[in-house]
Amino acid sequence: MPNTDAIGVGLLGMGVVGSGVVRLLQERTAHFRKVRGVDLALRRVAVHDLSKPRSVELPKALLTDRAEDVVDDPEVQIVIEVIGGIDPARSLCLRALKVGKDVVTANKALLAEQGGDLFRAAAQHSAHLAFEASVCGGIPIIRALTDGLVANRIQSIYGILNGTTNYILTRMTDGGGDFEEMLGQAQEKGYAEADPTMDIDGTDAAQKLALLCRIAFRVDLSHQQILKEGIAQTSPLDIDFARELGYTIKLLGIAKAVEDRIEARVHPALIPSDALLANIKDEFNAVEIVGNAVGPQVFYGRGAGQLPTASAVVSDLLDLAEHRLTGRTPGPSPLAALQEAVPIPPDEIETSFYCRFTVYDRPGVLARIACIFSEERISIATVIQHGRSETAEGTVPLIMTTHEAREAAMRRAVAKIDRLPIITEKSRIIRIEEL
Ligand code: HSE
Repeated sequence: MPNTDAIGVGLLGMGVVGSGVVRLLQERTAHFRKVRGVDLALRRVAVHDLSKPRSVELPKALLTDRAEDVVDDPEVQIVIEVIGGIDPARSLCLRALKVGKDVVTANKALLAEQGGDLFRAAAQHSAHLAFEASVCGGIPIIRALTDGLVANRIQSIYGILNGTTNYILTRMTDGGGDFEEMLGQAQEKGYAEADPTMDIDGTDAAQKLALLCRIAFRVDLSHQQILKEGIAQTSPLDIDFARELGYTIKLLGIAKAVEDRIEARVHPALIPSDALLANIKDEFNAVEIVGNAVGPQVFYGRGAGQLPTASAVVSDLLDLAEHRLTGRTPGPSPLAALQEAVPIPPDEIETSFYCRFTVYDRPGVLARIACIFSEERISIATVIQHGRSETAEGTVPLIMTTHEAREAAMRRAVAKIDRLPIITEKSRIIRIEEL
């Protein structure tokens, strides 16, 4: 007998995350009834290919290859969107919201590109859009910001927000496999985006950081306004020199409230090897949030993968189902931005830098580089050169770190240095964060 009192759930997508959601619902529905008083019934599931073998069993009658069947089913009150991408995910979510159905999405790209439209539609039609899974998978970071830390003025966010790049950097640091092989492994394990360039070039982390900034700082910041550099240029040489200097390279998302402006950036950074974030390995994510009342708090866990992401989706689902049962309206959307963001222009940001110059091994080379740093008022902290080139034409890596300098000054200095005849390759610059 179908349970007619249950809250009807429709699922869009039975890929990695969708299958995880079905598995958790199959395992835990009785438990949810007991501990939260909520009865859930999965009523319809949209799949791309009806004939494909599946890792979880479902009655055939639930499956459809027409996503509209799920959204339009009168017995579906909450729609879970885990198909990813912008379209048709966007139109399906809008279709559901416009008839007052609640939506749970794990789709950070969709929220980053079209979040405004979706939240407006939700507000207009008294529906709700929940998105815990969209930032750092299984870590309840959205809830932490909206609930647990609500009493705080958030001062800064430092995070390892992308599992794929953390997996690759960890393996490069700990000595195994090449870049392509490790990226392949991250894809197989379901961590990487459908287009993994979004992981590698920092877009995925920037989208997550933009969402965190909206919630933490209540600003309308798009991911395109975030300074962004990926990990593709990070070489094993840089990892080794960083280690020698006592640092580990991580792709960091950093956001700070500086008076009434926001500093937001995503880039590889050298961080002290004994810092907590330096020891976050493989696909794990971690976010350190500093609140004015609570001080620093670190949230750590799996930011990607089937069950971690499904865990966050199901937790949103339960909240929305509970709201439906109790008639309690969730508060205003945490993504309803209160003010336009005023981002600090990248040129004004100040950090220390690691620089790797590829130079001819001759007297006077260091002096010429030091002279340009001096012209730009950049103070040198350390210099490393190992060994010698056998010939006058041979090159060596020359490593320098600087004290804090303005980004603009550093860019000017490196442009001048790269024009010197003693330099044979484009110089590599990585920011240092002492944390
Ligand atoms: N592709 C993301 C990552 C997971 O590697 O962290 C989904 O956000």
